[in-house]
Amino acid sequence: MTKILITSALPYVNGVKHLGNLIGSLLPADVHARFRRQVGDDVLFICATDEHGTPAELGALAAGQDVRTFCDAQHDIQAGIYRRFNLSFDHFGRTSSLHNHALTQHFCRRLDAAGLIEARNVQQVYSPADRRFLPDRYVLGTCPHCGDGGARGDQCDHCGALLDPPELIDPRSALSGDRTLEIRDSRHLFLRQSQLTAKLNAWIDGRTGWPPFVVSTAKSWLTADLRDRCITRDLAWGIPVPRDGFDGKVFYVWFDAPIGYIAATQEWADAAPGRDWRTWWWRADDVSYIQFLGKDNIPFHTVSFPATLLGSGEPWKAADVIKGFHWLNYEGGKFSTSRNRGIFTDAALEELPADLWRWWLIANAPESADTDFGITRFVADVNKDLADIFGNLVNRIISFAHRAFDGSIPAGGTPGDAERRLADELELRIAALRRQHEALEFRAAAAATRAIWDIANAYLQHAAPWTAIKTDPARAAVVTRTGLNLVHVCATLAWSIVPGLSDRVRGAFGCSDAVPRWPAGPLAALLDGEAGRAIEKLGPLVEKITPERAGHLAARFGA
Ligand code: 2FM
Ligand code: ZN
Repeated sequence: MTKILITSALPYVNGVKHLGNLIGSLLPADVHARFRRQVGDDVLFICATDEHGTPAELGALAAGQDVRTFCDAQHDIQAGIYRRFNLSFDHFGRTSSLHNHALTQHFCRRLDAAGLIEARNVQQVYSPADRRFLPDRYVLGTCPHCGDGGARGDQCDHCGALLDPPELIDPRSALSGDRTLEIRDSRHLFLRQSQLTAKLNAWIDGRTGWPPFVVSTAKSWLTADLRDRCITRDLAWGIPVPRDGFDGKVFYVWFDAPIGYIAATQEWADAAPGRDWRTWWWRADDVSYIQFLGKDNIPFHTVSFPATLLGSGEPWKAADVIKGFHWLNYEGGKFSTSRNRGIFTDAALEELPADLWRWWLIANAPESADTDFGITRFVADVNKDLADIFGNLVNRIISFAHRAFDGSIPAGGTPGDAERRLADELELRIAALRRQHEALEFRAAAAATRAIWDIANAYLQHAAPWTAIKTDPARAAVVTRTGLNLVHVCATLAWSIVPGLSDRVRGAFGCSDAVPRWPAGPLAALLDGEAGRAIEKLGPLVEKITPERAGHLAARFGA
């Protein structure tokens, strides 16, 4: 049994995520975790909310709550949404956990002992009225490039320019409006990742199976001028820095967040007896570790986090494969949380079952380039793939079995040439599908899954048990038996992508196994088996999205 550790990038705690975030890491990680469980691997799938940093502080401020209360509520909201999307985390933790506090401080001490931490003075904006240093995005002012009055110290959302707070015209505090801002020195810790450039390069060169753009992005950072990274901040909310003179400072969110993968595994281990987090992270050479993340996260996962792990000098598990994703765009523009543009995961679930979103997103995953989500295409695609192709396949043969064979898998007759050809073809297709899942090729896997549904439909169309029944009941029995088993195989193969639909179909066959095992050959025998098994009637598997409903979606989520 292969041990597979899977992590999805940790969503920031503040705010419900949009479909772009879902397909950028959470959903493909889930599909892969499910597939690996199906083929019998020992899987651990870990995620958590990323709870520190200014976004959480600002979110709490806007909600009028203290940060802890805010994070508690936001964590629960996101956990609920992911449950309804059928994301099968083994644990969905929190980076604000005590485990993460202890581990983050541990890493800092180890890195310090290895000579990889350096304290330096940094110039920062200070607000006398707020009596605190202000993070870049707590400073507001007028953009020197476009004149927009709402620019932040890190960026102008209006023209997109990247800024430093001193560049802002008429700067003021986002907290109090204080205009008497000063620049003061503040002492901070830097991770000397420049010392680790050679080690990091060697580490990346030793990995295979990464999308080429992940490797090239990583390599573009690992050049001679790799900068050391400031890993502390003047904030109250976060993990305290265990060092004299650093009272009131915390670690930078990007230092502690990936350590949260390990800490969340510790939380997982605490939740039940007999679980050992070390077997996944410590001297875990038998573990294959795959990270899923959006492209903006690549530098942190290919440089800073591995620098933390390697620099500690301890035998921590680092990623074997980093599966990065490009952006999902929305109707020709960007999904944007700050501008509330696009479809958010809670709203998506209010409108349609999770599997419709899951299917489209995986079939169109932005694996090799940015991809556009458009309502019209979405509606056309799910109607065709899930209602016309998969739904019809399932409903047609089950209804026929009820009309002609009392709703059971009929016995009798002997499979012929058509069935042998079908079994041969399917064996090849299923092997190819398995290779695509193993290679983390999600679009290809969805296309191959759909192609198998097509083959099943073509077989039934051609063998036409509804015609055969009139003249040759034994032949009709063979085709119906084959067709029903085929539907069961199709549902099993689709489980990782559309678990809800798959469970309904398999439920009609009386299967309640939590994880349906990947079909193991020989397929001819599998398609000819199960005579006498009762199949429940099934209402329409997938309701088509009507033009009226499509209009409503377009209006609600208008571009
Ligand atoms: O970009 C983001 O949404 C971050 N919260 C991802 C963190 S991934 C990990 F390192 F924690
Ligand atoms: Zn601007």
